[in-house]
Amino acid sequence: MLDNDIEKTVVSEPEIETIIQRLKPELTRDYETKFPLLVGLLNGCVPFMSDLCKRLDFHLELGFMDVSSYHGGVTSHHDVKIEKDLDVPVKGRHILIVEDIVDSGRTIKAVMDLLHYRGAESVKVVTLLDKPGGRNVPYVPDYIGKHIPNLFVVGYGLDYQNRYRNLPYVGVLKEEIYTSEDLEKTKNSH
Ligand code: PRP
Repeated sequence: MLDNDIEKTVVSEPEIETIIQRLKPELTRDYETKFPLLVGLLNGCVPFMSDLCKRLDFHLELGFMDVSSYHGGVTSHHDVKIEKDLDVPVKGRHILIVEDIVDSGRTIKAVMDLLHYRGAESVKVVTLLDKPGGRNVPYVPDYIGKHIPNLFVVGYGLDYQNRYRNLPYVGVLKEEIYTSEDLEKTKNSH
C-alpha cells in the first residue's frame, strides 16, 4: 500500500543489506575492543540502528536521543532542539552516533559538540545516507552508507509528516502526496 505513493526507489532493501555488510568490517576493526556506546537519534534511526547493531558481533551498548531539526516538513530548520536526552553517562566512552541521514549537518554537529562537552573519549558518526548537497555546516561523516543527491526521501526511518518511516526501503514520494506548500519547498531543494 505505501508502495503506491513512491515515485522511485533510491536505496532498495538488498542495497541496505549490502551497505551494512560493507560497514560491518570497518566498524568491527575500529570498535571491537572499545565497548562503544551506539547513540541513535530518534525517530529516524530506528530501522538502521536495529539492522546494524544485529550485524555487529562485539560488545556494545545502545542509547537514544531525540533531537529535532525538520519539524515534520521537507526542509531543514535553523534550530536544533533536544527533546529527549541520553540516560547513559558518556564521560570516557567511545560514542558512535547512528543516523539515518546527514543533510544540513546541523543536528549532527550540535549532538557531537554536546557529547564532546560531556567528556566523551571519541565521537564518530555512521549514517545510512549522506546528502552533501544539503550542507549548511561543513561536515563529513566517518562511515557513510550511500551518498544521495539533493532529493527529499522517505522510508527506512525517514518521514514525511511522520509517515513512511516503516517503508522497508528509501524512496522519493510522488508529487501528489505533498501538500502544495511542501511541494514548492521540495522543488527548491533539487
Ligand atoms: C532528521 C534526520 C537527522 C536530521 C538530519 O531528523 O533523522 O537526524 O534530520 O538533518 P540535518 O543534517 O539537516 O540536521 P528529524 O529532526 O527530522 O527527526 P526524526 O528523526 O524524528 O525524523
